[in-house]
Amino acid sequence: MKAVVLVGGFGTRLRPLTLTTPKQMLPVIDRPMIEHVVGWLGSAGVTDAVLALGYRPEAFTTHYTDGLCAGVRLHYAVEDHPLDTAGAIRFAAHEAGFAGERLLAINGDVLTDLDLTGLWDLHQESGAEATIALTPVDDPSRYGVVPTDDENRVLGFIEKPPADEAPTNWINAGSYVFEPSVLEGIPADIPVSVERETFPALARRRSLYALRSDAYWVDTGTPLTYLKAQLDMVDGTRDSLPPVHPGAVVDDEAYVYRSVIMDGAIIRSGARVENSVVSPSAVIEQNAVVRDSIIGSGALVQNGAVVADYSVIGSDVSVTPGAELGGVRLPDPG
Ligand code: GTP
Repeated sequence: MKAVVLVGGFGTRLRPLTLTTPKQMLPVIDRPMIEHVVGWLGSAGVTDAVLALGYRPEAFTTHYTDGLCAGVRLHYAVEDHPLDTAGAIRFAAHEAGFAGERLLAINGDVLTDLDLTGLWDLHQESGAEATIALTPVDDPSRYGVVPTDDENRVLGFIEKPPADEAPTNWINAGSYVFEPSVLEGIPADIPVSVERETFPALARRRSLYALRSDAYWVDTGTPLTYLKAQLDMVDGTRDSLPPVHPGAVVDDEAYVYRSVIMDGAIIRSGARVENSVVSPSAVIEQNAVVRDSIIGSGALVQNGAVVADYSVIGSDVSVTPGAELGGVRLPDPG
């Protein structure tokens, strides 16, 4: 199997973290997010993946210099202007020479255990032009919901329905199988959205099928979900990976609870870190408190400061001694 991986977005909801690093190169536990995503593709049998790049492409191209990521051969396609999701899939498939075959296409910011082989098989059996994975959510009013019939055929795409009017709580999970005909139908070199344009058109032709899956699924696009995806990987919800990297230093007199402490990070005596992510080489000084927050790479939380309530501290930023920050982003991305 070959895959297109969408990684070219600006990641505005994760600013200031994404001002310096594209979302899929942000660390997740012990490696860039993209390695978790491509590793999942590889475990489903994908041998080649093209990264559909736009924002800060060099962060990827200079990192995987041997052309391999989690054992999968990487190809790169760099847009000179944003083509949106469908436009980007078309462009990347052509650039990599994949356009003539059945393809997987995925959002590169989703961490999931979804069964891609099952998606591929359902696609084959139904004879659809495209097949998409769906995941259930509690509150569908923030998403586009996707009703299907008894034969798994997609009936339409309904953007952000009021909660009491939503016909279903199944939403697009960001994993697709496409026939070459779908790519041919996407106009070249202009922005085209897969959810707003390509899929509704396929649904009208009764040519779009869906696999409903309640496998683990998180879209990491917001501070809350970027944090949750990582805590789920250490607290047993999804996995039980070691939460403290062997290259981190946690003082015996520090208190760390349900948090990820990455390579080179330092937690000094008297500091408290709870339900948080401390990125590589960040330092939490004496008696500082970090609660429900994300501390970016190389950031410094000085003595006695409190960072709480889903605050996001950008890379290399210093929080002054004794500061009390709740629900803030530093620097403020505006
Ligand atoms: P926000 O700005 O916070 O909404 O994040 P985003 O830019 O990542 O947008 P969104 O989460 O809606 O994008 C879904 C996926 O498509 C992500 O993996 C993005 O990287 C990717 N993506 C969005 N727009 C483009 C684009 O124009 N080109 C490419 N190559 N990828 C895109």
